[in-house]
Amino acid sequence: MCGIIAYTGERSAGPILLDGLRHLEYRGYDSAGIALQVEGPGLHVERATGKIEGLVRRVEGRLPEATSGVGHTRWATHGEPSERNAHPLTDPERRVALVHNGIVENHEELRAALGDGQTFASDTDTEVLAHLIGRELARGVDALEAVRCAVGRARGAFSLVAMPRDEPGRLIAARVGHAGGIVVGHGEGERLLASDLGALLPHTRRVTFLEPGELADVRAERVCYVDSAGAAVEKAVEEQAVSAVALGKGRHRHFLAKELHEQPDAVLDVLRGRYLSDPFRVELEGFPLDEEGARALRRVVLVGMGTSLLACSVGRHYVERFARLPAEVDNASEFRYRRPVLDPGTLVISVSQSGETADTLAAMEEARAAGCPQLTVCNTPGAQATRVADGTVFLRAGPEISVASTKCLTSSITALHAIALHLGRLTGRLPEELAAEQVRAALHLPAAVGEALELEPQVAGIAERYARFQNFLFLGRGLSYPMAMEGALKLKELAYIHAEGYPAGEMKHGPIALVDESVPTVAIALRDEVFEKMRSNIEQLRARRGPVIAVVSHGDRSLDGVVEELVELPAVHPLLSPVVSAVPLQLLAYHIALERGADVDQPRNLAKTVTVE
Ligand code: M6R
Repeated sequence: MCGIIAYTGERSAGPILLDGLRHLEYRGYDSAGIALQVEGPGLHVERATGKIEGLVRRVEGRLPEATSGVGHTRWATHGEPSERNAHPLTDPERRVALVHNGIVENHEELRAALGDGQTFASDTDTEVLAHLIGRELARGVDALEAVRCAVGRARGAFSLVAMPRDEPGRLIAARVGHAGGIVVGHGEGERLLASDLGALLPHTRRVTFLEPGELADVRAERVCYVDSAGAAVEKAVEEQAVSAVALGKGRHRHFLAKELHEQPDAVLDVLRGRYLSDPFRVELEGFPLDEEGARALRRVVLVGMGTSLLACSVGRHYVERFARLPAEVDNASEFRYRRPVLDPGTLVISVSQSGETADTLAAMEEARAAGCPQLTVCNTPGAQATRVADGTVFLRAGPEISVASTKCLTSSITALHAIALHLGRLTGRLPEELAAEQVRAALHLPAAVGEALELEPQVAGIAERYARFQNFLFLGRGLSYPMAMEGALKLKELAYIHAEGYPAGEMKHGPIALVDESVPTVAIALRDEVFEKMRSNIEQLRARRGPVIAVVSHGDRSLDGVVEELVELPAVHPLLSPVVSAVPLQLLAYHIALERGADVDQPRNLAKTVTVE
């Protein structure tokens, strides 16, 4: 949720930290700050509310020279977004500066245990850890041990970096629980720490991921690792393949636009090496079951959050069609607390762009405890989800920086299509002709997604005409229902417009009461087995003067004159239509957001990776 960066080495730490924070800003942008270890010894702390550029303006030309420091960009959980609650936080004697990502669940209990007379400078859960560490340091305890003791008393899932004032060049990192990862970067004569890989890539590709319960004692020349009991841990250095070049905006105004336009390539990257012709088939590395294991399955449960959850809702159709297994979709945040009935005959498939979403990780832990085989669909190498699952299907979509997910939705749906085909082959329930037809259809997807992007001028025109409406409905049936939900989600988060996504059949059971000339409906009305029913729903909307923007199949002009706007999709197999129909919905939300002057890449109140439950 929050972003962490830290540096120790020979270079000037300030500019490195500020640049790192720019890479991390998508994780949260309520406030930002840095602390530098300066000669004296002492701590120089600078913090500012709002985005990183506010902090940069504040410190420009007045940062002291230092070769070690920590930085943080915040998404508020405890305490309002304000300067006093911004990180880095310190203990009262300023013996340590602390940056923290995640939640200390028992922070009130720990505050009370510190005793009366302890004054707190912020309303955060984090500060209590700074106080605990500071107390230990004051007693002469070694910094690593001080941090280990403090985090040992805390409950929750979080990561942190502590910088002790009196030990120039030393940083201590800790990871507690499954949410909120931390990565060590190994440069030439320097080390970095970050909450995610992207912030390290401009400096090094040689990294080490901390596992839950581990701590790192970091100096420029060496790093030592210990577990929560203080025992030494040997950890390897991994070479990462992702390049920092992929992190820029390219020719686009926004990351969102760049990522939206990368979708043909992203979908192709899912297919590459997995969808094969001659004969047409899918081969999937990383699938955790063999034929025997697959045949023993009794059902599949798909879990995720937000857009990833909606990809799961499409994936469910694929699992049922191709593997003929009962499939359920669960919101990961509800899953665990429902006490779901799970056993080793249930394959749990999680979808997460980041692989660090706390709700999804909690659901995965629940499944692990029940002995379920698990597969995760993930875009982030090294992410926690990939470590919990028994197998991973990587999206290979490249970094998705914009807070609103675009390319990872279409890539995830494509990956779930591949998984279901693979599972169908293993279970022996997928007819060969159906498999061949689907592989052939999927190989056309990158081209179809590219053609869908050509709808942009038309959709931008629609956006201009509809940008001032305050409420929208999105309707679809079957495979288009999750896409209706996604269209509404994109409009909410990008343009701050109230939008509801419904299965079209539900409309007459309540939502139609909302409809009049001020409530436009985006209806996904494709030529499939429910088209005639969609058409009647559209007639019902028109009878109540509700304006309709219809997304229709290639070559279908039958709603011409019935609806206000007709958006014709390129040709695509009906089962793969969600990958293509998502595109005009994303474009609509993007262009309406532009019309309304919204902050497209960093919508208010959101964060890219939600590492709190
Ligand atoms: O990283 P994940 O895929 O697990 O993230 C899940 C959701 O937080 C994410 O899809 C969110 O809903 C996006 N803002 C949607 O655009």
